[in-house]
Amino acid sequence: MNPLLTRLQPYPFERLRRLFADVTPNPALRPISLGIGEPKHAAPDFLKQALADALGTGLSSYPATAGEPALREACAAWVQRRYGVAVNPATQVLPVNGSREALFAFAQTVIDPNRPGATVVFPNPFYQIYEGAALLGGAEPFYVASDPARNFAAAWDSVPTEVWARTQLLYVCSPGNPAGAVMPLDEWRKLFELSDRHGFVIASDECYSEIYFRDEPPLGGLEAAQALGRADFRNLVSFTSLSKRSNVPGLRSGFVAGDAALIKPFLLYRTYHGGAMSPVVQAASIAAWGDEAHVVDNRRQYREKFAQVTPLLAQVLDVALPDAAFYLWAGVPASFAGAVPGLSADEAFARELLAQYNVTVLPGSYLAREAGGLNPGAGRVRMALVAEPAECLEAAGRITQFLSNRA
Ligand SMILES: Cc1ncc(COP(=O)(O)O)c(C=O)c1O
Repeated sequence: MNPLLTRLQPYPFERLRRLFADVTPNPALRPISLGIGEPKHAAPDFLKQALADALGTGLSSYPATAGEPALREACAAWVQRRYGVAVNPATQVLPVNGSREALFAFAQTVIDPNRPGATVVFPNPFYQIYEGAALLGGAEPFYVASDPARNFAAAWDSVPTEVWARTQLLYVCSPGNPAGAVMPLDEWRKLFELSDRHGFVIASDECYSEIYFRDEPPLGGLEAAQALGRADFRNLVSFTSLSKRSNVPGLRSGFVAGDAALIKPFLLYRTYHGGAMSPVVQAASIAAWGDEAHVVDNRRQYREKFAQVTPLLAQVLDVALPDAAFYLWAGVPASFAGAVPGLSADEAFARELLAQYNVTVLPGSYLAREAGGLNPGAGRVRMALVAEPAECLEAAGRITQFLSNRA
């Protein structure tokens, strides 16, 4: 067996299952889960129709790993409309089966485990795939704590120069999961300078780019590169997905775009790995990337929901409207620290909330790793506001009651 498999950590939901194993949720209340970050708004009808229409011919041939030219052109056209950036659909774009597999596979393409000290840097807390991708690629993860005092920006300045010197890959996530923070241009400038100095590749995870609460859409990595005069996107690849944008997490469709010198070996890797996208999914994806009306409506639904729920929870928890994405990243009251022996404050909060009010939230410490004696997720919980507004409001009401009873 591959010994690196033993280094993989239990997924947060596995840890949650263990935390809740001996809890009996209040049977008088129906369960509400704010735990999993899975889009729940309806998938658009035109997309389902495009999928159905493609069934006639779409199952009868092996797809090319590079995808149909029409799909790559649809992705490039979307990048142009969304970011004002021109990418060459033949050399700078590649379809992927959702950003998760691509984020993982990209590390296997980029990392050279034979170079001493191979390191992959990413923010902490983080999307768990970055860590697994680094470990299975034969590299060491380096966790960079996000700073609540600076809108949860990662503390890149805290990374020692000798770590940057051996870094081969940097994951960034903007808008971020779990805090929803968008990286401003100055942060990109800093990271591009570091990449130029030390030669590492940047993988920019942008799967939440279309769900935002400020007027201005989140800055994309390619957009930042162009603004800073890096027209060739050197050492940068962006990962974009339909899962959240179009409410189709089951479709498994996204694309990567960026440096042609990285896209080419990534295509080679994917050809062997079997990363081609079904022609049926390609047809539906072309339709999805070509339509913005459903995306605008989806964003409106999130905005209305967050505008209703956030002020209620802000009365009882340390929480504010994020820049983007669909999570609230809330600090739990200090009284939960030490409330249950052996559990962190966020774990104790999640357990008691489930037992008393049948609401599931995810302990923040499960999304982060302890580094330098600190788990930057501890004391926070992540709440995914993916359900219908009425259900999210009901959850907010129960959390308010839970905390006022306890005070
Ligand atoms: C930060 C982040 N990146 C990537 C993904 C993967 O999304 P998908 O594979 O559906 O594109 C997720 C899913 O929850 C995520 O939270």
